[in-house]
Amino acid sequence: MSRKITILTGSPHLNGTSSKLADAFVNGTSDKNNVYRFDAGLNASQINFLKLDENEATIHDDDLISQEVMPHIIDSDVLVLCTSLYYYGINAELKAIIDRFYEYNHELKGGKDVYILITGYDAGDQNSSAYRPLVEYFEQLCKYMRWNIKGTVIGSDSWNAKKLRKYIFETADLSKNIS
Ligand SMILES: Cc1cc2nc3c(=O)[nH]c(=O)nc-3n(C[C@H](O)[C@H](O)[C@H](O)COP(=O)(O)O)c2cc1C
Repeated sequence: MSRKITILTGSPHLNGTSSKLADAFVNGTSDKNNVYRFDAGLNASQINFLKLDENEATIHDDDLISQEVMPHIIDSDVLVLCTSLYYYGINAELKAIIDRFYEYNHELKGGKDVYILITGYDAGDQNSSAYRPLVEYFEQLCKYMRWNIKGTVIGSDSWNAKKLRKYIFETADLSKNIS
């Protein structure tokens, strides 16, 4: 039985470098019918930030996240989190979705495989000061959510077309192994 995959991207850049990694992930999968992709950065006007009352309880928001995106995430076996490096953090639009997990923590926790796709101008590796905080952020997030990180692509020096092609192959290889 094939696994349900949800891909979340955060960049507002149409056909940008991180978007290309998300494309590669989709292209690598054997069963594209089981893939749901939401490009938060390109649909930012349709999604809202988390809202809380004075007791820190969620004020439910009936936007695209609650109607469509969150049900897909909850239902998926595999979650792909794709971001570019913006001011040494993740894309705000992706973070907006992650903060909205708060209303659905119980339904979301446990049992998902996660793939992390990152692109950034900085040429450092995953242990460099540019990317290490991001890698650790995703590690902590997944530990808290009881999700397993199965693969990470650090698309550093992203303006280098040759390197970007290598990351695209790396990403497609990751998704080929999902069964
Ligand atoms: C608003 C903004 C902030 C950025 N901040 C960083 C940064 O902190 N470090 C870095 O190495 N590159 C930074 N970059 C460069 C991007 O990470 C790089 O161009 C990346 O390939 C963008 O991916 P995208 O086109 O998918 O958004 C920034 C670019 C933008 C537009």
